Amino acid sequence: MTSEPKGRDHWGSGLGFVLACAGSAVGLGNLWKFPYITGEYGGGAFVLVYLICIALVGFPLLYAEMVIGKRGGKDVMGALRKLTKGSAPGRKWVTAVTGFMAVASGFLILSFYSVVAGWAIHFLIISLGLIPMDDGAAAAFGAAGSKVMSSTWHTVFMIMTALIVSAGIHKGIEVLCKILMPILVGILVLLFGYCCIKMDIGASLSFLFKPDFGKLNGEAIIEALGHAFFTLSLGMGAMLTYGSYVKHDEHVVRDGFWVALLDTLIALLAGSVIFAVVFHFGHEPSGGPGLLFMTLPDLFAQMPGGVIVASSFFLLVVFAAWSSAVSLLEVVVAYFVDEKGVPRKMATWVMAGFIWLLGMASATGIELTLFSDKPQGVLDILDNLTTRYMLPLGGLLIAIIAGWWISETDRSSGFKAFSPTRGHQISAVWTVLIRYVTPVLVLLVILAKMGVISFAPEAAEAAQ
Ligand code: TRP
Repeated sequence: MTSEPKGRDHWGSGLGFVLACAGSAVGLGNLWKFPYITGEYGGGAFVLVYLICIALVGFPLLYAEMVIGKRGGKDVMGALRKLTKGSAPGRKWVTAVTGFMAVASGFLILSFYSVVAGWAIHFLIISLGLIPMDDGAAAAFGAAGSKVMSSTWHTVFMIMTALIVSAGIHKGIEVLCKILMPILVGILVLLFGYCCIKMDIGASLSFLFKPDFGKLNGEAIIEALGHAFFTLSLGMGAMLTYGSYVKHDEHVVRDGFWVALLDTLIALLAGSVIFAVVFHFGHEPSGGPGLLFMTLPDLFAQMPGGVIVASSFFLLVVFAAWSSAVSLLEVVVAYFVDEKGVPRKMATWVMAGFIWLLGMASATGIELTLFSDKPQGVLDILDNLTTRYMLPLGGLLIAIIAGWWISETDRSSGFKAFSPTRGHQISAVWTVLIRYVTPVLVLLVILAKMGVISFAPEAAEAAQ
């Protein structure tokens, strides 16, 4: 049918791979979650801890996923199976569970990620002035949250995502990310420039970069660690699947470094912009989850050139979410293509259809009483289930598999390619991190989030 060579699709270039991974990493996590948790946990000290977590947990796990993907050359399930082939039955079973959980996480996360991305589309259209915002952002948000609005934009966003994934790795995902990422960085730099001239950038930078350790508590550390995970798209094989499409001579260590750096810089830049606006208008930085969708739109409306600022800002959010959503769907699609032999287009549209259906439960605000006594929205239930439990557990298992179960050749292959002379030294450092440091820290996050251990004595006392 086409002139493409038979076999698996590949990234066209190393740059394409880096931009695709950065596209996956940079998303609502950077633009929405990072600023609001930094605001809630008091700024500088939290940022510092977050940076340490990126180095100790984020980067080691990012490399682990990339190298498993590259050596395995298949979807998450197939790659894990291949690299642990000669293992004991118990290990094979754990590996299969890890793969299955990864695919399930991709399915569940995308179902609500798409709904939130849909709200961003709604705000983009409001900012362009196509929908009047006479009663303020909260009212506009109410409209975004209305069933019809949410369902419509969720549907649009799922179609946008499926269109890219069905076009494949090279012609779909790589092309999208090569276009979106430079635009995204460009818009952010322009917004930053605008904030330097018109907004309170000084207050913003000192809030973000002057650590006040008095504000730091155990809970903040757990949050920072969990976020390091989410922001780099780790724990469910997204980076693993992307890694499986690299050519054999690609230096994944260097690439992983660039991805982590880009993701972090973009989060910091977004934080600087958002807090410059917040401080300019004398608002508190601790606005919580509503910071992006409630506080900011109101402030944009009051500033000179607000229409342009607001629309470029929400365009940024939509673009970032789009290139992330694509990676979530790709994990699910790759599984059906590689393991079940389903043609890519069919796998994409059928799975996107099921995910869309589940997403409708979040979009229409259906409430269930599952894990607590009070009824909870499906969106919150799925968000909690995946980001609190499934992703950290997936990350823990991937760290154990990468650190202990796969062969030494597979483990250190990326480092040798990276630097024949210094490779083994860097590889030794990484091995210590992935074997001992990363799993222990991730386990702490899981136990803390389950409430088994507590790092916040004040909160525990207050609860008694
Ligand atoms: N990293 C993205 C963000 O910051 C979200 C994301 C995309 C993700 N793919 C993922 C998170 C896979 C965890 C796993 O918004």
